[in-house]
Amino acid sequence: MNKRTQLRKKIRTLRRSLKPHQQKQAALNLLGNIRNRADFRNAKHIALYLPNDGEISPEPLIKLCWKLGKKVYLPVLHPVLHNRLWFIPYTPQSPMIRNIYGIKEPKLIPSLCRTAWSLNLVLLPLVAFDQNGNRMGMGGGYYDRTFSFKSLKKGINGPALIGLAHDIQRVEELPVESWDIPLTSIVTDTKSYP
Ligand SMILES: Nc1ncnc2c1ncn2[C@@H]1O[C@H](COP(=O)(O)OP(=O)(O)OP(=O)(O)O)[C@@H](O)[C@H]1O
Ligand SMILES: [Mg+2]
Repeated sequence: MNKRTQLRKKIRTLRRSLKPHQQKQAALNLLGNIRNRADFRNAKHIALYLPNDGEISPEPLIKLCWKLGKKVYLPVLHPVLHNRLWFIPYTPQSPMIRNIYGIKEPKLIPSLCRTAWSLNLVLLPLVAFDQNGNRMGMGGGYYDRTFSFKSLKKGINGPALIGLAHDIQRVEELPVESWDIPLTSIVTDTKSYP
């Protein structure tokens, strides 16, 4: 097992070991750390995710977005271009299915999909992060591929990418690969980086 794989395994075990009451408190603290940010308040089209594998839950944030009249989207695996994400509107009425990983996602209705670059803000999960905005995900490269347009010199700026995590997922320095897309910032249950 290489260093990257080992680190991923260690931190996934750590976040899965959090008790339900700790997860609940973390989700509420996260809400408090995001709701007054200018990038959140100014965003109309926001992508979030449903928590899995001990990820910090953005569910209280999703409910706040609905209350504020913001449009919420969830990532779904593209049925043909399997390595990219599509973003589907998510409302309390959305019909849900389970994807190949057993993760719940809204039923894909291609005409309703929003392109990655036309979102205002993406709040994405991660496995590990460091104070410099480097992110390690689950290892599929899905977010990296979907937002690779952000690293092109003449590319579109696209949405701000904010990683959400438990503070225990922070490491001193993350090994970065050439394809990794850096985050705008990371918000945890205790603080924001940078
Ligand atoms: N823009 C890209 N084009 C082609 N392949 C890519 C691109 N970005 C990532 N990959 C491939 O995806 C694989 C997984 O990448 P990586 O280990 O960085 O995943 P990750 O960031 O942990 O996952 P995720 O983005 O899904 O959370 C790598 O082997 C890499 O070659
Ligand atoms: Mg990556």
